[in-house]
Amino acid sequence: MTDLDTVDFFSDGNVAQDPFEYFDHLRGRNPVFREPHYGVVAVTGHQEVIEAFKNTEALSAVNSIGGPFPPLPFVPEGDDITAQIESHRHRFPIFEHIVTMDPPDHTRARSLLGRMLTPKRLKENEEYLWDLANQQIDEFIDNGRCEFLGEFAKPFATLAITDLLGVPAQDREEFRRVLGAGERPGTRVGALDHEPVGTNPLDYLDDRFRGYLAERRREPVGDILSGLATATYPDGSTPELMELVRPATFLFAAGQETVTKLLSSALRVLGDRPEYQSILREDRGLIRAFVEESLRFDSPTKVDFRLARTSTRIGDLDVPAGTVVMLGLAAANRDPRKFEDPNEFRLDRRNAHDHVAFGRGLHTCAGAPLARMEGHVTLNRLLDRMSDIGISESVHGPAGNRRYTYEPTFLLRGLVELHIEFTPAR
Ligand code: HEM
Repeated sequence: MTDLDTVDFFSDGNVAQDPFEYFDHLRGRNPVFREPHYGVVAVTGHQEVIEAFKNTEALSAVNSIGGPFPPLPFVPEGDDITAQIESHRHRFPIFEHIVTMDPPDHTRARSLLGRMLTPKRLKENEEYLWDLANQQIDEFIDNGRCEFLGEFAKPFATLAITDLLGVPAQDREEFRRVLGAGERPGTRVGALDHEPVGTNPLDYLDDRFRGYLAERRREPVGDILSGLATATYPDGSTPELMELVRPATFLFAAGQETVTKLLSSALRVLGDRPEYQSILREDRGLIRAFVEESLRFDSPTKVDFRLARTSTRIGDLDVPAGTVVMLGLAAANRDPRKFEDPNEFRLDRRNAHDHVAFGRGLHTCAGAPLARMEGHVTLNRLLDRMSDIGISESVHGPAGNRRYTYEPTFLLRGLVELHIEFTPAR
C-alpha cells in the first residue's frame, strides 16, 4: 500500500501505473502544493494550471521537459533569476528546442513552425492519413488480432509527420525503421543497402533534415521541403539552417509518442466498452467527442514544468524565484471542481474540450490539430475495417479484471502494449 504523504511521484512505480489517486491526494491538500522530495510545487487544479500557463512573465519554460532533473545548474539568488537562467540556458535539457524557449526566441521559432503547419498543409496531410490508416490496417487485418501500438499507432504517428514535412516517399520506410516504429512486412531485404550510419533518432533526424534543407536552399524544387528551406522570419530575415532543422526534428519528438498514447488509450476504451462501438458506428460525428474525452481521461502528457524566474503566486501559494513548478495536466483534467465524475469516461460530457491535454498559452501544442485528426481518422478506419473489436483476454485478462501496464515514466501516460482481437469487416 503506497503512503501518499511520503511517496516520490518521480520514481514510484505504483504511482506511474496509476497517478490519479496521488493527484487527488495532492489536490486535497491544496491544488498548489509543495511536494517534499524535490521542493517541486505541484499544481493539480484545473483553474490553477491555466493560471500558471498564462503567467509567462514569472514562469519560464526553460525546464519544461526535465522539471527537477537534472537539478538547477546554479543556486537561485534573489527575487529575479532571469539573468541566471539566461547565462545557464545551454545547460538545460533540449534547450535548443522551441518547447524550452521563452520570448523573444520562442516567438521567432513559433513563426517558423507556422510555416510547417499551415491549414493547407494540414488539409493535404489529412488526405494522406486516410490512405495511410488503410495501409497500416492492411498489414495485419487478416490475422484477426494485433498489438496495436507496434502494428498501427507507432508507424502511423511517425509516417504522418514524414508526410507533413514532405519527406520524400522513398525515404519514409527508413524513417519508420530508425524511429523505432517497426518495419513494413517484407521491406527488410531492400532496406539493407542503405542502412543509416547513426542510430540515435534525434541525430539521425538532424542529419537528414540538414541534408534535405541545405540541398533545397541551393536548388529549390517546388516541394514542401523547398518551401521550408526558403522560409523567412516575419521581419524578412533568413533563418540559419539549424533554426529550420530543429523545429522539423522536434515535431517527431513531440508528435510520435504522444499520439501513440492517445490512439491506444482511445482504443482501450473502445475495446473495454463495446457499447461505444455501436454508438460511434451509428453516429460517426461523435468520434470527435470521443477523442476529446480520451485526451481528458488519459492525458498523454501527464505533467509539464516551469521555472519561477521571479517570485510570484499561484493559487494561494507564494512561489519564490527558482522554484520548479509542475503543471499536472492529467491531474487538472480529473479535477472534480471542473469535471463532474472525473474518473468516468463519458461521451456526453459537455465540457470535455476544456481539458488542458495540449497545454495553454504561448506553448500550446502546435500539433493539436494533427493529433486530433489522427485520432479521428484512426477510429473511423478501425470501425470501417473491423467489427467486434475486443481486448485480448489471454494477454490482458478477462473483462472486469484486466491487466494493463503503463510506461514507467513521470512525464507521459501511455500503455506499453495493447493486444486486440476483431473480426475483419467484409
Ligand atoms: C495527443 C498528442 C499530443 C499531446 C497530448 C501533446 C501535448 C503537448 C503539450 C502539453 C505541449 C505544451 C508543452 C508546454 O507548454 O511546455 C505541447 C507542445 C508542442 N507540441 Fe504537442 N502534443 C501532442 C501531439 C503533437 C503533435 C502531433 C505535434 C507535431 C506534429 C506536436 C508538436 C508540438 C510542438 C512543436 C510543441 C511546442 C510548442 C511551443 O513550445 O510553442 N504535438 N504538446
